[in-house]
Amino acid sequence: MRGFVTDPKGAGGLRLVDDLAEPVPSGHDVVVEVRAFAINHDEANLIARRPDGWRPGQDVAGVVVAAAGDGSGPGVGARVVCYLDWEGWAERVVVPSHCVAALDDRVSFEQAASLPVAGLTALRALRVGGAVLGRQVLVTGASGGVGQFAVQLAVAAGARVTAQVSRSEREAGVRALGAHRVVTSLDADDLGPFHVVLDGIGGAQTAQAIRHMAPGGQLALYGKVAGDTSISISDFYAQGWNAHVIGFVSPVPDETKGEDLGILAELVADGRLTPHIGLVMDWERTAEGFAALERRETTGKIVMRIGA
Ligand SMILES: NC(=O)c1ccc[n+]([C@@H]2O[C@H](COP(=O)([O-])OP(=O)(O)OC[C@H]3O[C@@H](n4cnc5c(N)ncnc54)[C@H](OP(=O)(O)O)[C@@H]3O)[C@@H](O)[C@H]2O)c1
Repeated sequence: MRGFVTDPKGAGGLRLVDDLAEPVPSGHDVVVEVRAFAINHDEANLIARRPDGWRPGQDVAGVVVAAAGDGSGPGVGARVVCYLDWEGWAERVVVPSHCVAALDDRVSFEQAASLPVAGLTALRALRVGGAVLGRQVLVTGASGGVGQFAVQLAVAAGARVTAQVSRSEREAGVRALGAHRVVTSLDADDLGPFHVVLDGIGGAQTAQAIRHMAPGGQLALYGKVAGDTSISISDFYAQGWNAHVIGFVSPVPDETKGEDLGILAELVADGRLTPHIGLVMDWERTAEGFAALERRETTGKIVMRIGA
């Protein structure tokens, strides 16, 4: 079977090999023939940290070729989206059935593959703030993989969304996702007050965001694209008294990944969530996809296609 392993001598630290063992499912697993997968920011770090034959890959969409022996999960022939811990960039993968959701025919494999890590992060981080109907939500890094989903989900939930982007060229695309206001910095005095902040950028921006929070608001800090964050109690004195900063880790809980993927996939099928996919490539070009991610050439997700 073909699939990627890490190899420091390969392009992007990856090598496509053709001698992988076929996946062996346990009773609760389904086997999926992969049609598309997406790549994520953190996977580049993992490839560098695990250079010797490790098998990356979390975001996968495809067709079930073997159903779970315990009767759980979708049956043979079902189109599905899956959230794996690793080993997803291969022709076939084995996945616990609770990390799988069936797909409506209206959802393409490319759209589905964009959902697991980025979509679940946005969905679950937004839940941190509870009901957001009519409330102000700030999404930082809104043109990114997670950010584009966070903006759309917050709008769908009835929030008034302010989206922060890194530069003015990104503004129009994020406005098209439904954001009510788009800013390139958090300097303005009239921002917020935000009931919920979803922050994947970190660095100096987190403290700035806290200064625009409503009393008792919730900030889910899920990334650090701009580096480590340093915050002070003084940041909370502006108005965000007793605001909460949550170190947000999206793969937890594991047991409801499939359920949450199903929610996202249904929103896509209904046209209420549109995955923004900046680049689709053949999977043999996965290293080029990471290079594009690194150069920040595209917005949204980068998706690799396997087969015709
Ligand atoms: N905790 C978790 O469970 C979890 C889950 C998923 C992701 N993450 C983390 O979340 C972060 C974002 O992930 P992602 O998949 O959305 O990444 P991504 O697709 O690469 O998007 C990153 C976004 O950050 C913007 N950006 C880059 N540098 C910036 C800066 N200095 N100031 C402001 N904006 C900047 C980019 O803007 P441009 O449009 O200009 O490139 C882009 O919109 C990463 O740190 C990732 O590791 C964490």
